Amino acid sequence: MDSPAPVGHPPEPSPAPALTPLPTARDIPRFPGGFLLGNLSDFRHHRLKLFRDIKERCGEIGTIRIGPVPVQVVTSGSISHTLLHTHANDVDGGPLVKTFTPLVGERSLVLLHGPQHRKQRKLLAPSFQREQLAHFTQTMVQYTLDAIEGWRDGQTFDVHDEMATLTMRIIGKTLFDVDYRHETNELLGAMGQALEHIEYLTSSLVQIPLSWPTPRNRRVREALRTIDTTFRGMIRQRRVDHAQRKDMLSSLVQVRDEEGQPIDEDQLHDDLMTIYSGHESTALSLGWTWYLLARHPEVLARVRQEVDTVLGGRPPAFEHLPQLRYTLQVIKESLRLYPVIFMLARAPTKDLEIEGYRLPKGQMVLMPPYIIHRDEKFFPDPERFDPDRFLPEREKQLPRYAWFPFGAGPHTCIGNHFALMEKQLIVATMVQRLHIELVDGQEISPEVLTVTLRPSHLKMRVEHRKDAPVSRVA
Ligand code: HEM
Repeated sequence: MDSPAPVGHPPEPSPAPALTPLPTARDIPRFPGGFLLGNLSDFRHHRLKLFRDIKERCGEIGTIRIGPVPVQVVTSGSISHTLLHTHANDVDGGPLVKTFTPLVGERSLVLLHGPQHRKQRKLLAPSFQREQLAHFTQTMVQYTLDAIEGWRDGQTFDVHDEMATLTMRIIGKTLFDVDYRHETNELLGAMGQALEHIEYLTSSLVQIPLSWPTPRNRRVREALRTIDTTFRGMIRQRRVDHAQRKDMLSSLVQVRDEEGQPIDEDQLHDDLMTIYSGHESTALSLGWTWYLLARHPEVLARVRQEVDTVLGGRPPAFEHLPQLRYTLQVIKESLRLYPVIFMLARAPTKDLEIEGYRLPKGQMVLMPPYIIHRDEKFFPDPERFDPDRFLPEREKQLPRYAWFPFGAGPHTCIGNHFALMEKQLIVATMVQRLHIELVDGQEISPEVLTVTLRPSHLKMRVEHRKDAPVSRVA
């Protein structure tokens, strides 16, 4: 298995097989639903259960209705992989992904497809290679140490809020060299507003166009203006002062295409917005890792032992990452149980046939890694949290489609190395210095925010460790 998933410019999908309809084409089972609204209510309020039920009753693929609209739900890894990878040129993001357009911009990687996507991805990819990210590790660790210093013994906090603040500060510094630690910045508030609006839009049934003068729309438009002005200011500034900076924007303004042209300002603007949004996924995923570690003290003890042995009291650095192997296994296993982008969406741009099933042009197809990662064939006793499933020799035996929290095909997360590295460093730094436990009496269940999974209002208590010799970053 390729792990972590390939970054940057993934291999070209092989040409899709010619469409010769099979006489034996298989019917896609229909999942039962109400006469008028179909499965709308379950889709909105019990989506994970709905997906589990579809797998149980329909098998690897089933059709639901959201109101009058038929939607295919694929619970098979191999069908999903064929659609995302082999048929990458025959699909687009469909209506769900297009909802993001007013916020991330129409040139965002997530919205581009085919040659335009390939071209832009190729230009951005070098800045996301693992080695390129090495000089960000110190920021990741330093900002975590600052957060830890601010926490008092016995303090309880909302894990998602703390992790979101931390990952946002890290992306602010690494992407545009803005230090949010000591200032509340206008940009920060505006970005928060924009991200919140994406969540709102994707969970609303009725989409009110942004041009309508509702109070919410006015606030969002104001936020987008702030982001626009700030981004364009930073891009122009960085074209002049990139030599003095080490942020990602400084490398992006120096990129040239095959004709020697730089990435234009509008394109860079949309790229910054899309890349920035990645911090939210990392924060959600850290929340799940802390939840699982707190519930499994024996796993936490193994992580602590690894961290103490490998680091010997020093803060973690890039060169320690390969040795923090068990920590990485924990992170991968938590992404298996809680892939924070718990469903991927595509719509075929022509009629397709995969493994005998006909997927009609224009009909939305949803693929939930949350369900696919629980396939007993590859992960026996799938609900059990067992990081040893990702021991290198066991991981190698998994097919590529068994575990894909970063997606598959040309749209595979470009920030996957960034995210894994950041998670490994944050977990190691916190475990090295803190005792962490869940606040008693909490009922934690996955809260579904359209495409993301959040541990609902998870509260943790921290205590600084007295038993580990530690030193600050110089
Ligand atoms: C644990 C953390 C993360 C997870 C689980 C995650 C997951 C994903 C997934 C599943 C996709 C593919 C979506 C699709 O095919 O529809 C994606 C795309 C993307 N991610 Fe991430 N992501 C994470 C962190 C990040 C970070 C830290 C960044 C930036 C530094 C980032 C930047 C992007 C971008 C730019 C895309 C669009 C790629 C394209 O369309 O070519 N992500 N992510």
